[in-house]
Amino acid sequence: MGEGMTTKPQAFRGAFLDFVHDPFHWPEHESVRYVKDGVLVVDHRGIIQAFGPYVNIAPNVANLPITHYPHHLILPGFIDTHIHYPQTEMIAAYGEQLLAWLNQYTFPTEMKFQNKTYAQKIVGFFLDELLKNGTTTALVFAAVYPGSVDAFFEEAERRNLCMIAGKVMMDRHAPAMLCDTAESSYQETKALIEKWHKKGRLRYAVTPRFAATSTPEQLRLAGQLLQEFPDVYLHTHLSENLDEVAWIASLFPDSHGYLDVYDRAGLVTQRSIFAHGIHLTDAEFMRLSEAESAISFCPTSNLFLGSGLFKLEQAKSLEHPIKVGLGTDIGAGTSFSMLQTANEAYKVAQLRQQKLSSFRALFLATLGGARALNLGDRLGSFEVGKEADFVVLDPRSTPLMALRNGPDTPQTLTELADQTFALMMMGDDRAVGATYVLGNLAYQRDSLRHDSAQS
Ligand code: GUN
Ligand code: ZN
Repeated sequence: MGEGMTTKPQAFRGAFLDFVHDPFHWPEHESVRYVKDGVLVVDHRGIIQAFGPYVNIAPNVANLPITHYPHHLILPGFIDTHIHYPQTEMIAAYGEQLLAWLNQYTFPTEMKFQNKTYAQKIVGFFLDELLKNGTTTALVFAAVYPGSVDAFFEEAERRNLCMIAGKVMMDRHAPAMLCDTAESSYQETKALIEKWHKKGRLRYAVTPRFAATSTPEQLRLAGQLLQEFPDVYLHTHLSENLDEVAWIASLFPDSHGYLDVYDRAGLVTQRSIFAHGIHLTDAEFMRLSEAESAISFCPTSNLFLGSGLFKLEQAKSLEHPIKVGLGTDIGAGTSFSMLQTANEAYKVAQLRQQKLSSFRALFLATLGGARALNLGDRLGSFEVGKEADFVVLDPRSTPLMALRNGPDTPQTLTELADQTFALMMMGDDRAVGATYVLGNLAYQRDSLRHDSAQS
């Protein structure tokens, strides 16, 4: 058992919100589960043992310590389906779109991660920041250096976090210091999979940066790794920017489009997560649906880099549904907050004459993200048997939010939809009162220290 793991069963009381169905495909009122005064019982391993209304559960938990969060809303921990930890320090880099942004800012920054001590320092900051924002699981790009992956997993393991990460594979069109070779990337990735994949809550993602920085041979070897280790993930970028799409077409003249470059290498699978997918063709949407691959929708990044507006309604269509999660895509994204990411997702929808309800957005940030990462059986909701990673949100975390949301706990789903919409538009890390990992307190906001009651 890891350091700091729960040793005794315990209970949490408050208002709970999670999802039992996909609200893009089911009526919202049947998809949302709102328990106004609920109890979550967590066993000694950090697994959810019981969940339901206080009146039903209370008689069974009379002997357990109960932590009560009045005036808060408790959600499953947020899941960030695409983020780069080495880019933490280069957030908000001015003035460029994708390809120039990579050359001018990203590559020089990622070179620093050859130094493992430096990587360790940033990993600590990065994981603190995720937890401060209520994010308990993420799919993470490390840098090209194997030591940058070790630094990440060592610290994630120490904190008992469920994290997925991988070494960047990149053997062309980048500075020599950042390039591996097809063969070395294969060997190093293989060794990292053997070292980290399924070690506790950790999982490995084979991570070619994007088609432009990999030779066909490197992509082929990435596909070979997926064959050799069938339950690792594939994580890369896809169809983010128009200049990028044109460049890929010129680099791979025999391929039928961007997705086909990955498909020919065997990289389009049920365990593949593609970041962005802004400029996909209809045929590519259909292929992703057929392959049961996932897309990470990264609205703050897509707006910041001027990449474009993701067609969420097409990805979530009933005819050709694709698994979708939300991603911050730090450092092209501008916030670690999944609430702020949901805010920008709403605005992307608006610019396309679409709506994105708070319930749909919060689904993407929780159970939708878990399903995109094939972790829906373990994470993303308060179902009994799942792992107790959750976030305690304060819908009144600023004076303006308190004015907007009023003093009362929502009584109906209509009131809840309104209050959570304001929360996602206005909320950020200040709205995160506490974050729990396997039932253990992993972060607590200063102002909450005197507010919650232990009995
Ligand atoms: N495409 C290739 N590399 C990157 C990256 O680091 N960030 C983003 N947003 N897109 C990419
Ligand atoms: Zn990215």
